Amino acid sequence: MKTPSPGLVIRWMSFAEDGERIVSLRRQVFVEEQGYGEDFIRTPYDEQGLHLGAFDGDQLVSVVSLFIFDDDPEVFARYNVPLKSGRLLQYAKRAELAPFRGTRLADFMVASLARAAFEVLRPRYSVILLQGEHTQLQKHYGKFGAEYHSKIPGPDGTELVVLLVPSHTPDIARGAYLKLRKMQEVVGAHLGLRAPSLVKFLERTGRMNLIPMAALTAENLYTAPLSLRDELPRLSAQTRLLFGEQKPRIAAVEFPPPPARFLDVGCGPGVYLSMLMRGSKLQGYEGVGLDASKEMVTYARLNRPDLTWLQASVYDTKLPDQHFDVVHANFLFIHLVSPQLALREINRVLRPGGIFYVVDVNDSTFDGPPEIAQLISAHHELYDGDRSVMSSLPHLAAEHGFSPMLNFSTRVRNTSTSPEPVFLKDEVLLDRIKMWGLFSFLAQREELARYLKSAMEYYYSSSCEMSICVETQVYRKTS
Ligand SMILES: C[S@@+](CC[C@H](N)C(=O)[O-])C[C@H]1O[C@@H](n2cnc3c(N)ncnc32)[C@H](O)[C@@H]1O
Repeated sequence: MKTPSPGLVIRWMSFAEDGERIVSLRRQVFVEEQGYGEDFIRTPYDEQGLHLGAFDGDQLVSVVSLFIFDDDPEVFARYNVPLKSGRLLQYAKRAELAPFRGTRLADFMVASLARAAFEVLRPRYSVILLQGEHTQLQKHYGKFGAEYHSKIPGPDGTELVVLLVPSHTPDIARGAYLKLRKMQEVVGAHLGLRAPSLVKFLERTGRMNLIPMAALTAENLYTAPLSLRDELPRLSAQTRLLFGEQKPRIAAVEFPPPPARFLDVGCGPGVYLSMLMRGSKLQGYEGVGLDASKEMVTYARLNRPDLTWLQASVYDTKLPDQHFDVVHANFLFIHLVSPQLALREINRVLRPGGIFYVVDVNDSTFDGPPEIAQLISAHHELYDGDRSVMSSLPHLAAEHGFSPMLNFSTRVRNTSTSPEPVFLKDEVLLDRIKMWGLFSFLAQREELARYLKSAMEYYYSSSCEMSICVETQVYRKTS
């Protein structure tokens, strides 16, 4: 497979700003190479559309467009889709300069567009129109979840094939999303490309109203599949372990002097925030815990009525602008479908120069036998959250106005024989049983039972070593 130019950068484009460049690339490909007419390279939907472009230096070399139809009966009828109301997205006008074809750049572009669309725009249906049968292309788009739907009349007596990616039920939407997310990750890693933040682009171009906030804020990936009664003891044990791991990290950070306001987003049962507030580092701070789960907040309130606990989504906290000196997130980002929306909201509630402190496990740092690695990757392919988000967070955080201050990584290993955790520099040693306990949340997912059984059998019948990193990233709000 050819590799594209090493300096490629992917950017969102609006037709108002970049229309001429988009049209010029379409002209080169569709008119000059493929013989279509000039009328093929502009559509009335371009102005309101979203366009994702790949640039080699200053040159636009690839573009794919997304047209957005909300409650548009005329278009729904024309495309013959089952929709009566709701949001329909059309993927269209994919154009690429010849030297870049065969590099999988187009796959990356389409998968990035579709991934962002699911994470931020949530369509009920997505449509691709083909000019004629194009069986190869139909097969290709099948990889993105698109199925043959119908044929409709095209211009000048031609026929258009309508491919549909249904997402009218959460399960169907999720299935397609997980498939194309995987493709985007694999192709992105192969090409060394990253997709830019759609949320940042919508904010910059004044189109945040496109985001269905009610649907997104109602979501809690963490609590949805879990029984809280089973989960709370595991979470409390993990939190205490994390507190030990975090002691030197917290000590190394220069927090602003009190009085100051500290917000813990995704605070869960509030055990961690309570422990932090008792320590000397945050003396004189006002502590606020926020979590999307009503049960978690109720538990936290009962436990520590002297602190403030709020039930809200990190995507839309309802808190005032620039109110906090520090925003802290422990094991929250791995449970979000839209980390970009969370970053935007955290930036909004932080004062200029405020600190954003985030801690999470990173599954991509797992080191251990294939029997267990397989379980971890099976979970990744099944879970809408992203337990490797710490690898992409620096890039996203930079786009959302954060500059890196400090970065730590602690490798947690299963090599101790002591029942108590051993805290070393950049390492925590656990005994085998405690280490396995970190993965016990997987037992609550039926779909993983097969992988879990063989991983567990292997783990307990061997003396295999395994380890994984907990990462801490500390940022300052700079814009
Ligand atoms: C693994 S727990 C971590 C709890 C706590 N930070 C700790 O370290 O013990 C993840 C928490 O994130 C919360 N959560 C998930 N999605 C959220 C969202 N969109 N907004 C706010 N909280 C969310 C869940 O309810 C859960 O309490």
